[in-house]
Amino acid sequence: MSEKAELILEGKSFQLPVVVGSENEKAIDITNLRQETGYITLDSGYKNTGATSSAITFLDGEEGILRYRGYPIEQLAERSNFLEVTYLLVKGELPTKEQLDAFAEKIKMHTLIHEDMKRFYEAYPTYAHPMGVVASITCSLSTFYPKSLNPNRSKDQVDLTITRLLAKFPTIAAWAYKNSVGHPVAYPKNSLGYVDNFLHMMFSLPSQEYEVDPVITSALDKLLILHADHEQNCSTSTVRIVGSSQANLYSSIASGCIALWGPLHGGANQAVIEMLDVIRNDGGDVMKFVAKAKDKDDPFRLMGFGHRVYKNFDPRARIIKKACDDVLNKLGIHDPVLDIAKKLEEVALNDEYFVERKLYPNVDFYSGIIYRALGIPVDMFTVMFALGRLPGWIAQWQEMIDHKEPIGRPRQIYTGATTRDYVNIAERG
Ligand code: ACO
Repeated sequence: MSEKAELILEGKSFQLPVVVGSENEKAIDITNLRQETGYITLDSGYKNTGATSSAITFLDGEEGILRYRGYPIEQLAERSNFLEVTYLLVKGELPTKEQLDAFAEKIKMHTLIHEDMKRFYEAYPTYAHPMGVVASITCSLSTFYPKSLNPNRSKDQVDLTITRLLAKFPTIAAWAYKNSVGHPVAYPKNSLGYVDNFLHMMFSLPSQEYEVDPVITSALDKLLILHADHEQNCSTSTVRIVGSSQANLYSSIASGCIALWGPLHGGANQAVIEMLDVIRNDGGDVMKFVAKAKDKDDPFRLMGFGHRVYKNFDPRARIIKKACDDVLNKLGIHDPVLDIAKKLEEVALNDEYFVERKLYPNVDFYSGIIYRALGIPVDMFTVMFALGRLPGWIAQWQEMIDHKEPIGRPRQIYTGATTRDYVNIAERG
């Protein structure tokens, strides 16, 4: 007999099914809880709530494990490339050489964005944050491809939308950067690979073509792989919940960008560099800032530290820390904030406050230092994260559609006023 959980409410016993995942993850299925008992569960921030069953990414925060479709992140970061990982996430299996080539070719056919969209960029002020621009333009794709709005979409239509998103997102992102520095945009160059094409659109100027540098390509490729999916995080849950209303895929991905933007999520990579710069400009006293982070009356937090799920080292942070050293060495760059970051990490990892709360560096702690070494400006960091996360969002959206999941609609416990009669304004005291 399969295991059940017993719940006793008002002296009555209820049996709840227990669900076990392929990695022995356990859950109590409360699908019929309200119907059977009249009760709901309360779980602010969904800290204990499984919103779905998913076969995409496995994450064990206690053990520091991360796998995409069963493949350890360490192996993928070392031996795969971003386009292959994209295929793996979106299609479910690693591609053969022919499948990967065909996938890459298909994407290359769609890298241009409609010329009319260039006018959108011209309308934004140059000080517009690129993340706001990227989210808006991504949402605007839905206005250029109205067939994507039909919730009864065919498989071909969905495939085309996915291809368009994967192909156009680097163009959208790079053009947001060009806009922010007031430079003319660089059109995609389809002779280049996915990552090199992005770098070309970021850094080519009318007067000087970007020259591919394998050190930079490989570092960026690795960063994108590490960000490609992370199961039911804030932005992914947002994509799934927006998509569950049958909103089109472009808008669902745009909403993921918005959720990612916040400094407690993908915006942390920008916040980390800004924090390291502040510490440096303040004289580099790491202890002072650790003390601030521990002070409950001070809103300051150590950005890039802590994670909702990892209560052991974030495995991505380990890989990034090493990649950071490698890239800076290979490029011959000495960034003084790297020294501050390492010192900060060392102090925090030995401090009782951080040890007790299991606060370790997360993926964002070192990624900003690499981005900066690659010549990517701070405002673009979260956009880089979004570029990496795009295949994960798409795979999660697709899975939600395939599972025919119902519209996402949590409940609440109401704590406001009970019923009272309306009083005319003249009679109010
Ligand atoms: N600096 C100082 N104290 C911290 C930090 C931090 N970075 N992170 C958590 N804490 C403390 C909290 O104050 C709390 O202490 P308390 O128990 O004494 O009240 C305890 O650790 C638990 O923290 P919560 O905020 O309850 O943990 P939660 O799981 O809700 O938040 C989060 C996780 C948002 C990532 C948090 O650790 C944080 O704000 N970190 C800094 C921002 C950051 O780096 N975000 C990127 C996350 S990775 C990503 O999204 C890609």
